[in-house]
Amino acid sequence: MIPVKTIEWVGDADGACRIIDQTLLPTELRYLDLTDSDAMWEAIRSLRVRGAPAIGIAAAFGVYLGVRAIGPEDDSVSFVAELERVTAHLATSRPTAVNLFWALERVNRIGMEVVASGGPAAARRALLAEAVGLIDEDNAACRALGAHGAALVADGDTILTHCNAGSLATAQWGTALAVVYMAAELGKRLSVYADETRPLLQGARLTAWELQQAGVPVTVITDSMAATVMAQGRVNAVIVGTDRVAANGDFANKIGTLGVAILAREFGIPLYVAAPLSSVDLNLASGAEIPIEERKPEEVSLGFGRRTAPEGVAIYNPAFDVTPARYVTAFITERGVVRAPFAEGLARVGNSPSSRARLVIPRESAGPIPRQGATDA
Ligand code: MRU
Repeated sequence: MIPVKTIEWVGDADGACRIIDQTLLPTELRYLDLTDSDAMWEAIRSLRVRGAPAIGIAAAFGVYLGVRAIGPEDDSVSFVAELERVTAHLATSRPTAVNLFWALERVNRIGMEVVASGGPAAARRALLAEAVGLIDEDNAACRALGAHGAALVADGDTILTHCNAGSLATAQWGTALAVVYMAAELGKRLSVYADETRPLLQGARLTAWELQQAGVPVTVITDSMAATVMAQGRVNAVIVGTDRVAANGDFANKIGTLGVAILAREFGIPLYVAAPLSSVDLNLASGAEIPIEERKPEEVSLGFGRRTAPEGVAIYNPAFDVTPARYVTAFITERGVVRAPFAEGLARVGNSPSSRARLVIPRESAGPIPRQGATDA
């Protein structure tokens, strides 16, 4: 069972970052070769590439694509200026997934260090190598996380998941769905309920698509059916991904996750949060500090081109919610399973040099993403 590659580099230094255009799934599997930083910004903002770890990797390639555009003859001063500009711009693409800022911080630091010692040409090479390396790291982390998670489930179990925390949300192996893929490698067959995940249907369009490709039994339900399938005893465990885990264990994930967590508690079903360390933000004390993206109203009122609410009616469209730590049974990380007390456990696994790196974004670029108007695609 080898899941699809969501993001990869094709060619040499003049090559392109190849992504699956996820806005077209499940009806069309089209790859896009992105060759400049603005195209990468647009792909992240419009969810052509989405899911916390995939966004981080995409942004890293975006930085390389940005500085590649300035000529090899350029001096270090203009290279640094462009590196800073491109990094800050990519940081405005989406606000909630900390992986974006984690990855930007990493590549920005590498670029700065190498340009100081070796000049722009060496820095460009280092940036591409770092972005490609993030794919390898992500694959290793997801597979390790999946193996830890697979120990928590039994052959024949049924998992309920929300949104897409699968291969399409990472480089290849997924986080929540890595548990399913790795369990299969260990001979445990799982089946999945996929919440459709209003309003953009990542569950119905993406989770169902990738599990079907992988031969995993999957059943799509509308979000409002989750209570019923739990009440009917059809679910052994809920496993979701996350965009950001605060130091106390509160976590942000796709809107609707909070409701699923409350239901799981009510029905005595364990809630596992698949959280690579690149999604853990020890700088935030609690979930109250996590910036929540608000997206354009048309995603609700004009979903996929069909008017579903009266023109002019008020719409509220937060893309993520925050689930308090008390609903979490355990976090599944690449370094093992973390149970309560979460503050101690997350600090223990999260305090590695790679997970400490954080990007300090200038105020003006870190602000809330402006609401997009009706004319936006
Ligand atoms: O808006 P999206 O599709 O990027 O939201 C994605 C999610 O909420 C995922 O569950 C989360 O990023 C974890 S992905 C491993």
